[in-house]
Amino acid sequence: MSKGLQIAIDGPASAGKSTVAKLVAKKLHYVYCDTGAMYRAVTWQAMQLGLDLTDEPQILNVVETYPIRFVAADPVQQVFIGEHDITTAIRQPNVTNNVSTVAALGTVRAALVKQQRAIAAQGGIVMDGRDIGTTVLPHAQVKIFLVASVAERARRRYAENLTKGIDTPLATLEHEIEVRDHKDSTRRVSPLTQAKDATRLDTTPLSIDEVVAKIYETAKKKEKDEN
Ligand code: CDP
Ligand code: CDP
Repeated sequence: MSKGLQIAIDGPASAGKSTVAKLVAKKLHYVYCDTGAMYRAVTWQAMQLGLDLTDEPQILNVVETYPIRFVAADPVQQVFIGEHDITTAIRQPNVTNNVSTVAALGTVRAALVKQQRAIAAQGGIVMDGRDIGTTVLPHAQVKIFLVASVAERARRRYAENLTKGIDTPLATLEHEIEVRDHKDSTRRVSPLTQAKDATRLDTTPLSIDEVVAKIYETAKKKEKDEN
């Protein structure tokens, strides 16, 4: 019996990565790791400390001083940094709009990638982010690159925000998504890019269940091939 596959799910902001990754992990009884939450956690902590988010040694010090922890919970996995439960705080616009600055720091990425690989070493894993298939788990047996039009991604984020009582105009969300995609795709270290051996999946016309089913079927086939 194999210990399970590595499934890497990458793609731009709000393409549906974390939603489907979590559901695929649940169906397969795999561990789920949201690497975006780790970059968000560091950003939140650095902002709490009033640090300059471009000061690389100081931000690296945050990673080394404050451990990040995931606690499995339904429907939302809880995220802690140090003693703080930051599950909700890291989704706030102030963190969202600053996280790409922190994520561009090479030494910070290296430290978080090390933690991500340690989590993946536990067994079957579904990990989502921007550089999972290219850098974190280059030997992942399943690599999916999720995309959707900017308009559709902004609509999805808008609907999600409304459930949290946030009413940011659609045009603002579209602009924020484009700015973040640009920063993530053009940074020097591990930019957002599709791995050569990844399957590109355009989710614009697809429901969450349809995307989950496609990835689940791919994984089941791979599991069979591996055994
Ligand atoms: O969920 P959403 O697409 O809004 O973002 P996220 O997955 O929570 O990631 C937040 C930010 O972290 C991204 O915009 C990237 O700047 C950064 N990130 C990254 O650089 N590498 C990863 N593996 C995951 C996230
Ligand atoms: O992790 P990422 O930023 O890529 O996206 P997400 O946070 O998983 O998804 C953004 C929003 O789109 C969530 O509210 C999902 O419920 C929704 N979604 C959707 O409506 N249809 C899909 N096929 C995937 C996600």
